[in-house]
Amino acid sequence: MYHSGVTSEGSHGDWATEIDFIPDPLAKQRALEDFARFLNPQKVRVMRSAGLDIIEAQRSGPWVWDLEGRRFLDCFTSAGSFNVGRRNPRIVAAAKAALDHLDHGNFLLCSAQKAALARRLAELSPGDLTCTMFGTGGGEANDFAIKLARGATRRPTIVSTVNGYHGHTGFSLSAAGRAAFRDPFEPLMPDFVQVPFGDTDALEAVLDERTAAVLLEPIQGEGGIVVPPPAYLAAVREACDRVGALLILDEIQTGLGRTGKWWASEHYGVEPDIMTTAKSLGGSIVPISATLFTDELREFLIPNPFIHLSTFGGSDFACAVALEVLNVIEETGLVEHAATMGARLFAGLDVLAAKYPEYVKEVRGKGLMVGVEYVEESLGPRMSYHLSQHGVLAIYSGNQPSVMRLMPSLVVQPQEIDYLLDALAGALADLQAGAGPTEDSTRVRRRPSRTNVTEYD
Ligand SMILES: Cc1ncc(COP(=O)(O)O)c(C=O)c1O
Repeated sequence: MYHSGVTSEGSHGDWATEIDFIPDPLAKQRALEDFARFLNPQKVRVMRSAGLDIIEAQRSGPWVWDLEGRRFLDCFTSAGSFNVGRRNPRIVAAAKAALDHLDHGNFLLCSAQKAALARRLAELSPGDLTCTMFGTGGGEANDFAIKLARGATRRPTIVSTVNGYHGHTGFSLSAAGRAAFRDPFEPLMPDFVQVPFGDTDALEAVLDERTAAVLLEPIQGEGGIVVPPPAYLAAVREACDRVGALLILDEIQTGLGRTGKWWASEHYGVEPDIMTTAKSLGGSIVPISATLFTDELREFLIPNPFIHLSTFGGSDFACAVALEVLNVIEETGLVEHAATMGARLFAGLDVLAAKYPEYVKEVRGKGLMVGVEYVEESLGPRMSYHLSQHGVLAIYSGNQPSVMRLMPSLVVQPQEIDYLLDALAGALADLQAGAGPTEDSTRVRRRPSRTNVTEYD
């Protein structure tokens, strides 16, 4: 069976690499029609225009097959949710074993599974982050981080960054760095301020004794894989300390090995007071998130042990699965592997960027958190289309459509990185030859509607 997810021969062991179902194009049509009718017709239209009207069927490691039987290297991975690969056999086995005796558990009781996972997270997390509050998703984890910061400091202001992304729940949405997500729901929480990411002076200008916390992603994901200047995070840490504010790092996309370190903060030698993780913690199988914080901040919870509750947050079942996710990352050397595969990808991307300066403006990122910035916005959806024709699922950034995110599963093998590079070369050549959707047909529409959300025709 599957041994590690990464073999020395560069193969996936017994992980399925061949299709094992009968393609059904009619089922795809039916699913799209029902999705349009009962969920969201505009989403179907947008996805179709970018060649992303893919209905996932078989999932295995870094690959996904759609209902038509087409195979794609998944470079979107639900924005970094599949670090250990999709349906990793070890994770599936752990889930099946857990189902034999667990359910989600009684949330109000103490739990052996929660305790075991929290202990493991404490061991793996940077600095003094030894306490955990569990949740079901990233937004919820950030909500609690913000609540804890306000509750523990008794200060109101939360500073986040322009184009930052922290989820769509209440407090997290208030910290969203994109007005289109916030505006229709105003008034949101008071005392939330946004400053440009990477700009220490702008940050220092808003920090004062009313600031509870600064909340940011060490590398912006939805904002377009934006890597800050090397000294930025340390400067943020210092600035927070000067005014007694807390530093919350959202490692929901960047964590769990994605950038070639367990946590992206390690690249910068910075230890936060609060850190959030979610997405890949669930191993592509269960919803789970965690907010990690220091003993000092736990003081706030001592007199308030029931102040933040969640029926499903850190369910016994999810904790058992997540524990195996951490084991797989550690035992199979996925963090180091991500750094090695990232280096291979960057080397190939640099060659392509030099060959196609009329399309590619910049390549950036760390490990396997990679962004390709095109020279203009319509190239994001057009390249998604072309890449889909070459067997790659890749999607432009939510807050920055000119940036294509390349975030394959960390189990990706050298030959799959080469496959991705070949697909990119083919897609860029198709673009140059004038094939596929045009600039006009994919032009970015800033809707004059209430929501003003970016759309593609
Ligand atoms: C950095 C970051 N924070 C928070 C979230 C929100 O996570 P969720 O969708 O699980 O609420 C995301 C999701 O993409 C994210 O990328």
